[in-house]
Amino acid sequence: MIDKPVVIGVAGGSGSGKTSVTRAICQRFSDKSILVIEQDYYYKNQDHLPYEERLETNYDHPLAFDNDLLLRHIHDLLNQKPINKPVYDYALHTRSNQVIKVEPKEVIILEGILILEDQRLLDLMDIKVFVDTDADVRIIRRLMRDIKERGRSIDSVIDQYINVVRPMHLQFVEPTKRYADIIIPEGGENHVAIDLMAAKIQTIINKLTF
Ligand code: CTP
Repeated sequence: MIDKPVVIGVAGGSGSGKTSVTRAICQRFSDKSILVIEQDYYYKNQDHLPYEERLETNYDHPLAFDNDLLLRHIHDLLNQKPINKPVYDYALHTRSNQVIKVEPKEVIILEGILILEDQRLLDLMDIKVFVDTDADVRIIRRLMRDIKERGRSIDSVIDQYINVVRPMHLQFVEPTKRYADIIIPEGGENHVAIDLMAAKIQTIINKLTF
């Protein structure tokens, strides 16, 4: 029997399909069962920095994230307390003034490029997943997404990828694959992997005692 929410970490490089894997898993359960916490929402607050300086931040380095706050929030959720989840503004490169009040649920999915990088987070996870997608596919997805959804230019996306995203991926993201229990090639289109994950989660939910 399990008496606390189950924590699942979903890591993988930028554009690997973490969001689609997480969404595909969530679609198999009711909204009441699964809570998703995006590590991106826990980028450090940069309100104190001028906009130009925020552009210089390395957003692919472990130190860019406020993991202390994330950890406090996970502990609260595990203790059945609601949290005020921060909201991140990609256009302003800082936290927005809003927060979202979030209630604890049976399953908590933590999703982010470096979610398997911090030992304190690993210690709280029951299942660790790494979404493994080839770099050419990841850069194409990122290019399309950043232009459409994050207001970036082609040049800025390519420049950031070559100078920051790629080296940080090789140094910090890729090595965390070794901590994964499950490696999912090709993200959300891997229906076999999603079915296996969903079956495992259902087995765990059936054992919950709260
Ligand atoms: N990032 C950025 N500017 C910011 C903050 C973050 O460009 N102000 C970028 C970082 O460079 C990092 C990426 O956001 O590489 C993290 O988001 P990503 O993993 O690409 O998006 P998800 O939708 O979470 O993941 P996936 O594409 O795998 O679904």
